[in-house]
Amino acid sequence: MPKATSSKSEKMYLLATLQFLMLALSLTMASEECECEPKPNTCNIMPCGLPGSNGLPGRDGNQGPKGEKGDRGERGTLGPPGKVGPMGIKGDQGPLGPKGPKGDKGDSQELIQLKAQMSALQEEMRMLKDLINKYKKVLILSDIKIVDQTFYMVVASEETFEEGKKLCSQRNAQLAAPRNAKENKALQELAEKFNKYIYLGISDEVTEGTFRYQNGQIVSYTNWGHGEPNNAGNEDCVELQTSGIWNDRSCTEKYPVVCEL
Ligand code: GLC
Ligand code: CA
Repeated sequence: MPKATSSKSEKMYLLATLQFLMLALSLTMASEECECEPKPNTCNIMPCGLPGSNGLPGRDGNQGPKGEKGDRGERGTLGPPGKVGPMGIKGDQGPLGPKGPKGDKGDSQELIQLKAQMSALQEEMRMLKDLINKYKKVLILSDIKIVDQTFYMVVASEETFEEGKKLCSQRNAQLAAPRNAKENKALQELAEKFNKYIYLGISDEVTEGTFRYQNGQIVSYTNWGHGEPNNAGNEDCVELQTSGIWNDRSCTEKYPVVCEL
């Protein structure tokens, strides 16, 4: 088509013209000013391009220097109470208190005297107890035995039953007759000490087979050996052997005499 061909040639012409003008312009600028290559003594004839678009953002910079100290913060909440402090010094004496109620009536003269008598008696009793304990110690060292309130004393070394009864009677005492195991044991200890049997203040002289104390009462405590009393050959008296057992025996043996008081 002739119109299109014409237009194309026109465009080619215009482009060539524009290129020429741009070349001329750039030569002119290069001769007047050399800004592209800042070398001192040379000045290449180079056309400057159009400014490029902005590049990508650069990397983050290094950490900066430490900043200045900040302002003081606000006051915090109240903390828990601290430990108890040391004791304070003693305070001054307080003022005199109010008068108290009226007291009870004092002891009468009679009561005061009674109290004094009682404390004197208590003191006397204490002294007597001390004395008794002293006597007891002396008696224990002698041939005397004490069981509760009964005293057993050896008054002769070899006497018959009848002689023994007499010797005790002369001392306002009687031949020993144990009323219980404790007393029997005390007498056994004396028998053991002398290594001899002893007569007890017991016999069946009045009624054969019925043993009585010297006051006539029938015995309430006995410690007969096996098969005793057997009245072997007419035995009316009682011997306490070193083992503590009893045997009915003739009244004519000669044994240590033990009286009880
Ligand atoms: C024996 C008997 C006893 C008796 C005595 C007399 O020991 O066992 O019963 O009294 O002899 O000697
Ligand atoms: Ca016998």
